Amino acid sequence: MTNILAVGNWKMNPVKKKDAENLAKDIKKVAQKYKKVTAVLCPPAPYADVVGGALGRVKNLALGAQDMSWQEKGSRTGHVSPLMLKDLGATYAIIGHSELRELGETDEVINKKIRTALLYGITPIVCIGERERDENGFYLGVIHKQIESALQGVLKKDFSSIIFAYEPIWAIGKSARDAMTPHDLYEMSLYIKKTIAGLSSKTIAMNMRVLYGGSVEGENAGALFEGGDVNGFLIGHASIVPSEFESVLENMTAALKRLEKKE
Ligand code: 13P
Repeated sequence: MTNILAVGNWKMNPVKKKDAENLAKDIKKVAQKYKKVTAVLCPPAPYADVVGGALGRVKNLALGAQDMSWQEKGSRTGHVSPLMLKDLGATYAIIGHSELRELGETDEVINKKIRTALLYGITPIVCIGERERDENGFYLGVIHKQIESALQGVLKKDFSSIIFAYEPIWAIGKSARDAMTPHDLYEMSLYIKKTIAGLSSKTIAMNMRVLYGGSVEGENAGALFEGGDVNGFLIGHASIVPSEFESVLENMTAALKRLEKKE
C-alpha cells in the first residue's frame, strides 16, 4: 500500500499564531519518525503561511486547507482562492466537510470546488458521510448520492486525483470507543469503491484513495487501518495534540507492517 495519509484537520484551533507555529514544529518532529505515512496539516486559513513555513520541505509532510473557494478571484467575501493556497505551497484541500454542509454547503457547490481544485493541481479530500445509521440501510443512499454528485462532470482520468474521506457525522468528536469498528469501516470502504466502480470502472475505483475520519485516536488507529481497507485517516481532535498524533502515526505504521507481512 502506498500513499498513506494522516490528515490533520485542526478546525478552529489554535487561536494564536505562535501556538500554530509551535504545533506545526512539534508535529514535524514527530512525523519525521514515521516516513511511510504522509502527514497533511490543515490549519485555520490565517495560519497557513506560518505553518507552511514551519513545515519546510520534508517529503512526508504537506500543507492543506480546510476549505477552498471554487472561484480563483473576485467578489467572494471571506473565501480563500486556490491561487492563494498554491502560493503558500498547499497541495491538499478538505472539501465538503460535514461542518460546512451543515451550514448549507450543497452538493453542487462541493462539486464546483472539487473541479476547481483539480484544475489547480490541489488534491481534493472530499468528505462524505451519513448523519445517522438506520436499519433499512437508507444511509447507503446518502453516501451514493454524495459520491455521484462529487464526481459529476469530472473526467474519469482525474478520478484517481480525488480522495474521499468517509466521515460519518455520528462518529465525529467523540472518543475511540464510539468510532466506527474496523469491520463496519471495511464494508463502507467496499461500498464506496463499488459506487465509484459503477460510475467508472473497477480499475479506476481500486486506484482511488479512501480515508476514514471520526474519533480516530492512537487507541483505534491501528485496528482501523489494519481491518478497514483505507489509505489513512482524517483526524480532528487527535491532530492538535502532538503526542496523540504520534500515537496515531505509530499505530498506523505498525499496522502497515502487519499488512505487508500478510501480503
Ligand atoms: P474528530 O477526529 O475530532 O472526531 O474529528 C473528525 C473530523 O471532523 C475531521 O475532519
